[in-house]
Amino acid sequence: AQVVQAEFVKSSVRTEDCPADGLPEFALVGRSNVGKSSLLNSLVRRKRLALTSKKPGKTQCINHFWINDSWYLVDLPGYGYAAAPQELRTDWDKFTKDYFLKRSSLVSVFLLIDASIPAKKIDLEYASWLGQNQIPMTLIFTKCDKRKKKKNGGKRPDENVGDFQELISGFFETPPPWIMTSSVTNQGRDEILLHMAQLRNY
Ligand code: GTP
Ligand code: MG
Repeated sequence: AQVVQAEFVKSSVRTEDCPADGLPEFALVGRSNVGKSSLLNSLVRRKRLALTSKKPGKTQCINHFWINDSWYLVDLPGYGYAAAPQELRTDWDKFTKDYFLKRSSLVSVFLLIDASIPAKKIDLEYASWLGQNQIPMTLIFTKCDKRKKKKNGGKRPDENVGDFQELISGFFETPPPWIMTSSVTNQGRDEILLHMAQLRNY
């Protein structure tokens, strides 16, 4: 399930402008700065294929990356970035949700949640929206390399992960699959790629 070929294809802001070849794809979504672009780079073993930044709001389009000649990884703008102009945020929210609802080649949304901090309201709202709209979803917990911090309530990543799953349990008929990851240690990389391969073969 390893990635041997990865190539940026295009940026779109409308679902209609996304690649039209019907290849299966997986989209990475989550709060700004949660680590979507970093995870994509970890999966393809490249440092800067998707651009990352310490500052939230780096990714602003629907970015398609062509993998192994046969499927796509899709990097999306984050939600919940308070410092971006409201107009821009509304725009991002509109076109990503339109994409989730209309994109028929979308196999699963990968919702990224920061495991180093307690659950955020906006993440719960997002999970709830995906559940309500029955968008196939996989939960990806990021930054599992980070140690617990007093100011974050002193919980370890695995404790935050358990709390989050409990909080969203009412949103889904069957609990979504979940994987713990780190783009620093590459924890979870093989598990994600195997999971994606299994989903493609259904
Ligand atoms: P936007 O495009 O702005 O929505 O952000 P993003 O979700 O793509 O986040 P990005 O990958 O740009 O990473 C944001 C910051 O988090 C960067 O400083 C990364 O180095 C850091 N980061 C990402 N993943 C990890 C991780 O697994 N562990 C740690 N410790 N830091 C991470
Ligand atoms: Mg990004």
